[in-house]
Amino acid sequence: ASKSDQQLISMHEFAAEMYHHILMNTEEGQSALDYLESRGFTHEMIEKNRIGWSLPEWNYMATALQRKGFSEEELVTSGLAIEREQSNGFFDRFRGRIMFPIMNENGKVIAFSGRVLEQSKQEAKYMNSPESPIFQKSQVLYNVHQARNAIRKNRKIVLFEGFMDVIAAGKAGVHNALATMGTSLTAHHIRKMKRFAQEVVICFDGDDAGWEAAKRAAIALNEENFKVEVAVLPGKMDPDDFIREQGAEAFQERIIGKPHAFIAFAMMHARRHKNFQYENDLLQYIQEVLQLLAGRSTPIERDLYIKQLSGETGLSEEAILQQYRKLENKSIGRSRPEKPVENVAKKESKRI
Ligand code: CTP
Ligand code: MN
Ligand code: MN
Ligand code: MN
Ligand code: MN
Repeated sequence: ASKSDQQLISMHEFAAEMYHHILMNTEEGQSALDYLESRGFTHEMIEKNRIGWSLPEWNYMATALQRKGFSEEELVTSGLAIEREQSNGFFDRFRGRIMFPIMNENGKVIAFSGRVLEQSKQEAKYMNSPESPIFQKSQVLYNVHQARNAIRKNRKIVLFEGFMDVIAAGKAGVHNALATMGTSLTAHHIRKMKRFAQEVVICFDGDDAGWEAAKRAAIALNEENFKVEVAVLPGKMDPDDFIREQGAEAFQERIIGKPHAFIAFAMMHARRHKNFQYENDLLQYIQEVLQLLAGRSTPIERDLYIKQLSGETGLSEEAILQQYRKLENKSIGRSRPEKPVENVAKKESKRI
């Protein structure tokens, strides 16, 4: 890294120590510490992840950093301070937030994500550092420095939606865990992941947003020749909720230990919010699944999933296979299947 990058890293390291100290050793940090404990964070987890608290003051950190000798320009470039528009001086970006340091692959702090204690409509739940010379959101994966060995050993990455889930998974004994920083998975992320493993288990939140993001991530990783599996959570839970409710063993055995194959997950995704009493839902479902199979299945997968389709829809395997052959002929010479053909609008569909 260049000298100015080094300087930015030193700032972040200094800030992380200070936030952490405030959380652990001061009265001002007590409510945040109570909050973390109420969410099941142990002292060990707080130490290991270097979690902290930013005081709800206008320029506590900016002043501390300047006193430490960092320049105004460096303050602003780091994103820790923001220049005032109307008058001189700076104010802190992070005020009154639980501070989660984001580390680079060497374990050095390059950014922060700050969480409010209580969710409100006025403020975003999480605030992240802006992009800087040392922090590119579309490239950074959370936890690489801690997960690398476990990933190599397991030959597998477990990919979560956010760092809260990574931290909870660590407590539950799942150490090969990574997450993006609130962005969807990019080609950069995938390239980085490739350096560590060829297999990935996606474990995103059980809400609709999580299912959609999981589908997109699964497709992107599959295109890049990862072996993709998806671990699905019951209801709208996220991994952290599940671990707190059901415990580490249940998480390891029932969730991470029983992921769905890529195609099986895609079928579950395609079935969601569909009602097979509506013929359009049914036809669309079959079409979606067959298109998926035509693009990338082995003969055994094809047989397996066509049987499953037949069982689910009550249509004969023969009819489904015929439909499949049509799609397969069309897909020859193409490496990836077309997007599913949009059917007639739902409101026009008839009950069978
Ligand atoms: N995120 C964000 N800004 C938000 C909400 C989410 O950047 N306003 C990103 C964060 O990186 C977060 C991830 O998306 O880690 C997942 O979001 P969400 O599921 O809402 O957060 P949780 O990790 O479940 O956090 P918590 O349990 O504290 O609500
Ligand atoms: Mn400490
Ligand atoms: Mn979520
Ligand atoms: Mn979540
Ligand atoms: Mn959560």
